[in-house]
Amino acid sequence: MDKYIGNKKAILEGIEKFLIAKNIESGLFIDVFSGTTNVGQYFKQRGYSIISNDINDFSYVFGKVYIQNNEFPKYTNIIKEIMEKGFIIDENEIETSTEYIKNKLDGEKIFSNGYFEKVKYGSNVRPLLIVLQYLNSLSIEDLSPEELLFYNYYTVYGVNSAYKSSRGTEGKRNYFTADNAKKIGRIIETIKRWYLSSLISEMEFYILLCALIEEVTLNANVNGTFHDFNRSKLFPNALTPLKLKPMMLNISENAIADYCICKEDSNKLFKEENFNALINKYKESVLYIDPPYNFRQYSAYYHMLNFIAIYHTIDNPIEYANGFNYVRGQNMKNNFNSQYCYKDKFIDALEDLITNIKSKHIVISYYDENNHWNHGKKVISMDGRKEIVNMFSRIENIATYDEEAFTIPRVNYQSRSGEHKKQIDELIFYARR
Ligand SMILES: C[S@@+](CC[C@H](N)C(=O)[O-])C[C@H]1O[C@@H](n2cnc3c(N)ncnc32)[C@H](O)[C@@H]1O
Repeated sequence: MDKYIGNKKAILEGIEKFLIAKNIESGLFIDVFSGTTNVGQYFKQRGYSIISNDINDFSYVFGKVYIQNNEFPKYTNIIKEIMEKGFIIDENEIETSTEYIKNKLDGEKIFSNGYFEKVKYGSNVRPLLIVLQYLNSLSIEDLSPEELLFYNYYTVYGVNSAYKSSRGTEGKRNYFTADNAKKIGRIIETIKRWYLSSLISEMEFYILLCALIEEVTLNANVNGTFHDFNRSKLFPNALTPLKLKPMMLNISENAIADYCICKEDSNKLFKEENFNALINKYKESVLYIDPPYNFRQYSAYYHMLNFIAIYHTIDNPIEYANGFNYVRGQNMKNNFNSQYCYKDKFIDALEDLITNIKSKHIVISYYDENNHWNHGKKVISMDGRKEIVNMFSRIENIATYDEEAFTIPRVNYQSRSGEHKKQIDELIFYARR
C-alpha cells in the first residue's frame, strides 16, 4: 500500500544509509507505528528480525501477511473444492498476472534485483493466483443481506447510506459503484465462510483479506483517506471494475529471524509478554518511531480498511453497520484517539514510549511542516525539533544522542496527479542506550 498519510516508502534507502552510518546492519527492528509495514518489509528483506505494531486493524493484517508470513500459500483444500465444483482455470490470465508481478517487483525498492527468480515467485504464486481468479469470477447476483452491506451502506444506491453532516448538508455515501460494492460484499462473505469452516488456514485467509484491502485502497472513490468521499461524482479509479490482484509477498532468506506482529497502543506494547526479553536477545535493536505528528487521527481516516480487516470477527455485520456514524460512516466502537495527535501530549507520549522500550538504538522520523508546532504556518519554526532533542536529554540510560537531526531529502506530491511537486526534508533523530 502506497496511498497512506506518512508512508515512508520514499525514504527507505535514506533510513538504511543512516543506520549503516551508525554501524547498524542487522538485529531486531521494532517498527512501533508500522502503518503500511513498508519500513518493516524493507528491513525484513535485509535480514532483520521484526516487531511490527500499529493500532490500526488493517495494519495488523499487513503485518501478518508481509512480515510474519514467510512462505507462499498453498490453498490445497479450497482449490480442490472449487475444481470439483467445475471451476476452469484461465491459464492466459495466470500468465498475465505472473508477468504483472514480475514487472511490479522490478520497480519495487523493498526487494532487491533478482528477487522474483530467487524465491521462484512465478511457480510458487500459482495457487494464490488461482484462488484470486476464482474470487474475481464470483457472480454478484442473488446476494444475501450481508453481501449487500457495502452496497446498502456505502453507495448512493443503497437504502442505508444517507448522511447528514454537522453543518446540515445531506446526501448519500458515495464510496463505490454499485457493482464494486456488491463484489466486495460477496468476496468478504466468501472468504469469511472459507476461514470459519477451516477450508483455508488463518494465514491463507489473511492473504486474501490483504488483497481485498489493497484493492479497496485503489478502488474507493476517495481522495487518499476515508474521512470523506467525492460527493458529486465517481473518480476514474472508482469506475474501474474491482479486481483482486496478487500482492508482493515478502519472503526472507533469514530462516531464524523472529517476526512478531502486534495491534497495541504503542505505549502499552512493552507490557506484551516477553517483549523486552526479545529485545535483550539481540545485540543490536532499533526502536523505529514514526508517530502521527499532527491532529489527523488515523483511526477515523482509515475506518473503512479497519472495518474490512475485522469483518470476520463480527457476528452480526448488519447490526454493526447500523452503528455507522458521521458522514464517513464509521462505527465508533472501533475508534482509537491517539495521544500523538495532540500537541500537548505528543512529547510526553514519546518520552514514555522510549523510557519503557529498552532498545539499544532509538530512531525517530519527523517532518518540520504540518506538525503540531507548524500546522497552518507560513514560516516554519524549529520548535518541534528542539522539543525532541530536549526530551532525549531527560531520559535515563540514554548514553548519547544527536543534537542535530539527520535530513533525508524527498519530493512531496501534493495533489492526486502529482503536478505540485516540492522538495522537502524528512528528519531522523537518533539516540543510543
Ligand atoms: C506516520 S504513520 C506511520 C507510517 C508508517 N511508517 C509507514 O511507512 O506506513 C503513524 C501510524 O501510527 C499509528 N498510531 C497512532 N497512534 C498510535 C498508538 N498510540 N499506538 C500504535 N499505533 C499508533 C497510526 O495508525 C499510523 O499508522
